[in-house]
Amino acid sequence: MKTLALYNIKGGVGKSAGAVNLAYFAAASGLRTVVWDLDSQAASSWYLHGDGQAAKAKSVLAGDTPLGRLVRPTPYEKLSVIPAEFSYRYFDILLKKVEPPREAFKRLLKPFSEQYSLAVLDCPPALSHLADNVFTAADLILVPVVPTHLSLRAYEQLREYFEQEGFPLRKLMPFYSMADRRRSLHRELIEQPPALMKGMAQSVVPYSSMVERMGEHRAPIAAYAPSEDPALLAYAELWLEVSAALKL
Ligand SMILES: Nc1ncnc2c1ncn2[C@@H]1O[C@H](COP(=O)(O)OP(=O)(O)O)[C@@H](O)[C@H]1O
Ligand SMILES: [Mg+2]
Repeated sequence: MKTLALYNIKGGVGKSAGAVNLAYFAAASGLRTVVWDLDSQAASSWYLHGDGQAAKAKSVLAGDTPLGRLVRPTPYEKLSVIPAEFSYRYFDILLKKVEPPREAFKRLLKPFSEQYSLAVLDCPPALSHLADNVFTAADLILVPVVPTHLSLRAYEQLREYFEQEGFPLRKLMPFYSMADRRRSLHRELIEQPPALMKGMAQSVVPYSSMVERMGEHRAPIAAYAPSEDPALLAYAELWLEVSAALKL
């Protein structure tokens, strides 16, 4: 089983949208996929109709509730979800006490490797113990970057953190998210990405009302968007890049 994380220090950049859409494509391509929603705001749980079936963070970490028991089906074949719970906001404090502190998620996911080909982690926006666990467990960390200087700065900070803490930089794959080509700054940064974006995905996810409507449909965009929709095509291409990088 491979583990893919959608992560950014910043919120509101397209992590949950990316997690749900990429997991959908993974499952549609025949891979048994599970989304673990780690954000107490529970966006991906909600998109995938996994609400109301969660367990407290403490019980999960203590091993009192095996993660496998929390897996819920979704309306999509081969796609399951482990819903988030409001107590996940305490994950950080709890993870600090686990030994070794960075390996809890990796350990919890281990029993899934027989049944699933891919785990997708939808993460909250903080550089925290939870993030350290994600960086340890993930084979690939997709980072949605809005083409603006502040977003690039946040990505730079993440890279610096990886260097400081000894996490492998090769795990990081940034991609442009919410890109609006009507804006000259976005266009410039897309056409000439800064050196910092080396290794980025070629697929650019556009700013799109079709993505915003995921909340209305409670579904990945493939469930309702026309087949030629640019955002749908961007996620489909992004999935091809990700699956190649993960050798899936
Ligand atoms: N490509 C996009 N175009 C337009 N709106 C988007 C796009 N991606 C995400 N959104 C919207 O922006 C908000 C934040 O997206 P979300 O995926 O929840 O971000 P995060 O998980 O990083 O906080 C949501 O309302 C979502 O519908
Ligand atoms: Mg989110």
